[in-house]
Amino acid sequence: MNNPIDTATRLYGLIGHPVAHSRSPFLQNELIRHYSVNARYLAFDVESGDPADTLLGAHDMGVRGFNVTVPYKQAVMPHLTGIDEKAALIGAVNTLKYEKDGWYGYNTDMPGLMRAFSHDGVLLKGKKVVVLGAGGAANAAVCAAAECGAGVILILNRTEEKARVLGERFAKQYRQVRFESGTIDAESAIAGMEAIGAGSPDTEKGWIAIQTTSVGMHPDTDAAVIEDPLFYEKISVGYDIIFNPLKTRFMERTEAAGGQAFNGLKMLLFQGIRSFEIWQDVSVPDELAEEILSGMKGTF
Ligand code: ATR
Repeated sequence: MNNPIDTATRLYGLIGHPVAHSRSPFLQNELIRHYSVNARYLAFDVESGDPADTLLGAHDMGVRGFNVTVPYKQAVMPHLTGIDEKAALIGAVNTLKYEKDGWYGYNTDMPGLMRAFSHDGVLLKGKKVVVLGAGGAANAAVCAAAECGAGVILILNRTEEKARVLGERFAKQYRQVRFESGTIDAESAIAGMEAIGAGSPDTEKGWIAIQTTSVGMHPDTDAAVIEDPLFYEKISVGYDIIFNPLKTRFMERTEAAGGQAFNGLKMLLFQGIRSFEIWQDVSVPDELAEEILSGMKGTF
């Protein structure tokens, strides 16, 4: 660190449980160092307690910003003075900033994923997108795909009802996007994709898949939520939001069927960068993002 700690040093941090494997301290302290901000970023493992107390106490001690992770992404929301419109739609905040009159909440997973798409040259405008999963991460993924102007978003989940409810909620906000839902088994996924793609020239390989379930995550790495090669034959781009392992079985299957595959490291990178941009009111350029990304890869 080239900026020493003194009495003016401000604290930023991550609250969640567990936080032991988080890459946010590395990423945020790199940004702090590059921009010579008089600050530090720590991970706080908050095992229990009322988020209202945590936020109040932190503010009293001069903390200016937090990232929020599992299990507090929704729990902090009632204690905020304001919530960004998209974060409210997604139903989760992962970034807090203390403004004059209280804590404000943002969701940077969604813009983080959008910037990852753009950085990887993946265009979603008018495309058919299949989202695997309907949990917290899927909300941000569906929002990102809708913001990018996807033509169709098919949401598949083990618990089908959650996929349907998610689609209906976003359909009210993004009326130009066609939302469909179904169960995540290969047979109904393929049938749904064929029905939607019928008559379009890119039926066979036109889909962009965003994998948001926890299936395939370390340590259970030898699984993909859909295994059938016929599903992957319809995928031109497969995005897995998992970054540990760096190459998931979902990605291997996407590539084996001739598609392009990406892991969740860039989403992680760009969501953190967006949080830093909100806190410090700066725009982090791609060159710096790429430099930090190579440092992050070294942490695995
Ligand atoms: P996150 O915030 O990381 O998205 P989550 O909200 O718990 O975590 O969501 C996990 C997602 O992975 C859900 O879509 C879940 O499906 P259900 O809604 O049916 O629970 C999905 N998931 C987890 N384990 C799964 C498994 N073994 N097979 C299929 N889907 C699974």
